[in-house]
Amino acid sequence: MKKDFLAVSDYSPESLQEMLDLAVALKKEHFASGNKPLFKGKVLGMIFQKPSLRTRISFDMAMRHMAGDALYISPAEIGLGQRESIADVARVLSGYVDAIMARVFEHKHILELAKWSSIPVINGLSDYNHPCQAMADALTIVEKFGDLKGLNVAYIGDGNNVAVSLMHICAKLGANFTIASPECYDIVPNAIEDARKFAASSGSKLAFIRDPHEAVKNAHVIYTDTWTSMGQEAETEKRKLVFPPYQVNQKLVSEADKDVIVMHCLPAHRGQELTDEVADGPHSVIFQQAHNRLHAQKAVLVKLLE
Ligand code: CP
Ligand code: NVA
Repeated sequence: MKKDFLAVSDYSPESLQEMLDLAVALKKEHFASGNKPLFKGKVLGMIFQKPSLRTRISFDMAMRHMAGDALYISPAEIGLGQRESIADVARVLSGYVDAIMARVFEHKHILELAKWSSIPVINGLSDYNHPCQAMADALTIVEKFGDLKGLNVAYIGDGNNVAVSLMHICAKLGANFTIASPECYDIVPNAIEDARKFAASSGSKLAFIRDPHEAVKNAHVIYTDTWTSMGQEAETEKRKLVFPPYQVNQKLVSEADKDVIVMHCLPAHRGQELTDEVADGPHSVIFQQAHNRLHAQKAVLVKLLE
């Protein structure tokens, strides 16, 4: 049966760990000798309904580094669900390429693509989650601390797609996850319900609070993301009034563990959710994290295409 990568919550802790171990090995191989041509003759179709720097280029380069190719399909080109139904796009593309990576607005659209495709489908971000980001985040944390187990991860800001996937990978792999978000910007309840189940078997502790200062106490990781995600642009001004107390600045960072790392999936809105001083300061790992998209996604691709 074909495999998809739609959510970290679909994978067991063992499979996630296996993918992370593979990512570490592929990164090492990449810098030592270059990767083996495992994707020779394979093409990844990349559907984008929204803009992207990291996801687009890292997937493209992951395929190229392993002797494969990638095809960018712009929003205007196929009009997913408008010019043609998602089910038809999925079935047509399944005859042309070897896997699909898609960035969509509505999560149900990625599920629909996966349902109708006979080839693997990878979620490159939806309004619900961002699993490829979480894999790169976990890889970055592993590089710094060796393991996620027992670490305290504090997410400051909007309970968005990035927060969902980060919470799930923490709960699966035994990291404690605390989110401080303003009222009305909580993580969606069904994602929290799932996380509680994963945490019950991994032993990780979850906390959902309002106070960012409380959240960063003893934190090994501080994570933040934009106040306004793609697709929510009409709310930008309203959100700018609500979120300033959730800015990750030097004062907040100084309240965490002394070896804390600061993470952001990027693109960052410097001066809003993250100050320049922190983004470019000694605790920041934001560019290592962005570069790790390449290595983490190679591991995902290998698992789906092997
Ligand atoms: N973090 C991330 O997914 O970046 P892009 O939107 O540039 O792909
Ligand atoms: N939460 C952000 C992540 C961007 C990579 C968004 O959805 O726009």
